[in-house]
Amino acid sequence: DWVRKIQKELLTWYDQNRRGLPWRENKDPYRIWVSEIMLQQTRVDTVIPYYEQFVSAFPTVKDLAEAPEDQVIKAWEGLGYYSRARNLHAAAKEVMEQYKGEIPREPEKISRLKGVGSYTAGAILSIAYDLPVPAVDGNVMRVLSRWFAWWEDISKAATRRRMEAVDRELIPAERPGDFNQAMMELGALICTPVSPSCDTCPVRELCQAQAEGLQEELPVKKKG
Ligand code: ADE
Repeated sequence: DWVRKIQKELLTWYDQNRRGLPWRENKDPYRIWVSEIMLQQTRVDTVIPYYEQFVSAFPTVKDLAEAPEDQVIKAWEGLGYYSRARNLHAAAKEVMEQYKGEIPREPEKISRLKGVGSYTAGAILSIAYDLPVPAVDGNVMRVLSRWFAWWEDISKAATRRRMEAVDRELIPAERPGDFNQAMMELGALICTPVSPSCDTCPVRELCQAQAEGLQEELPVKKKG
C-alpha cells in the first residue's frame, strides 16, 4: 500500500544518501538534544563546529547542568539566539533534579523541559529512543504539503498539529528516528523551497504536487 511504499522508498534513499553528521554517530539523547536545539535556527554546516566544541566542553547533561552560565553562553557565542543556550542550560538542571540525569522518554515530560517544543521532543524521542513520535519542522511540513497537495497555511499551529497527526500514521515502527531524519533530509536536499529536484526525488511517483505540477506553489505560508 501507499504508506509501506513511501516508507520503503524513503528509507532506501536515506540509507544511500544520508550525510555523516556528528550527531548521527550514536544515539545519546543528550547529544541529539543539543544538536536539535542548535539546528532549530541555524544551518547544518554552521552548526557542526559549534556542536563538536559544545559536546566536548560539556560531554554529559550533568556537565552542562553544573557549568556556570557564562561558560555555556560563551560556548554558544556566534550561534545567536542565546535564549536557546539559556533554556538548554536550565533544562539540563531540570533533568538532573527531576529525572536523575536521564532525559525522560514520555512525551508529556520531555515537552515540559524549557525550550523543548513538539518538534524537538519528537526528534529526541524518535532518534534517541526509537519511539514512533512525529518530528515535524518546516522542512517536513513542506514535504507533507507537497505529497498531499495540502493547501492549508503552514504558519498556523492548527495546520502543524494536523500534519503531525498524518505524519504519525506514516512512521514505520521499526525505524522511527531514521524515518524522521529521512523526511528532514529529503526537505533539505531534494524537496527544497525553490526549484525542488523532483527529477531525483525517490518518492516523486507518490507526490501529488509533482503529478499536478504544483510543487512550486506549495506549501502555502502566509506572512504574519
Ligand atoms: N535539522 C534538524 N534536525 C536535523 C537532523 N537530525 N539531521 C539533519 N538536519 C536536521
